[in-house]
Amino acid sequence: MRRLIALTTMLAAAYATHAIEDADARLIASREVATSMQNELKGELLQAITKGGPLAAIEVCQTRAPVIAEHVGNEAGVRVWRTALKLRNPANSPDEGARAVLEDFSRRLAAGEGAEKLEHFERAADGSARYMKAIVTQPPCETCHGPAIAEPVRKALAERYPADQATGFVAGDLRGAVVVDWPGTSGAD
Ligand code: HEC
Repeated sequence: MRRLIALTTMLAAAYATHAIEDADARLIASREVATSMQNELKGELLQAITKGGPLAAIEVCQTRAPVIAEHVGNEAGVRVWRTALKLRNPANSPDEGARAVLEDFSRRLAAGEGAEKLEHFERAADGSARYMKAIVTQPPCETCHGPAIAEPVRKALAERYPADQATGFVAGDLRGAVVVDWPGTSGAD
């Protein structure tokens, strides 16, 4: 009997270790995916602003963001998307879970936690997992999301996004989050 208990404990420990490693692997991969997404988009955005000005760069944000997200996500077998509490494009609306995490990020940022620490990882019973990383406003973002947007840019944004709520942000504000959704793995858990 004692041997059986010892064996069960050992197996449970091995399983738990495996589960944690599995979660860690996806957490580490998620961080890479979120960083690639942010870096690629920011790179293209800054290049477009330098080359063609903010008006041309609006196009990059609108058309390139989903393309980059798809490319980065497909490579890792995940779905990557951007969301926020105050949205420019309603198509980026958070679901209930993402909204709760965004609200938690806002609270943590307001309480003085470093922006780079604002991340979240959760596993669901069906084996799926979700990672979220805060997107914090930086000075170049203010060109299109700030409190004093140049008139031609403001007009171009208003034409495309009549319900735009994503203005008035200053560097350091929580702008939104990158979400990395992992599919459920049948048989896991
Ligand atoms: C040239 C203008 C421009 C600049 C600069 C810009 N954005 Fe945006 N941003 C947009 C547009 C346009 C959209 C809507 C994209 C879409 O249709 O999905 C957007 C959408 C977003 C979204 C998705 C959520 C939403 O509101 O729809 C996030 C997050 C975001 N921007 C963050 C940033 C950050 C962070 C920076 C600075 C690194 C930045 N943006 C710089 C124009 C800009």
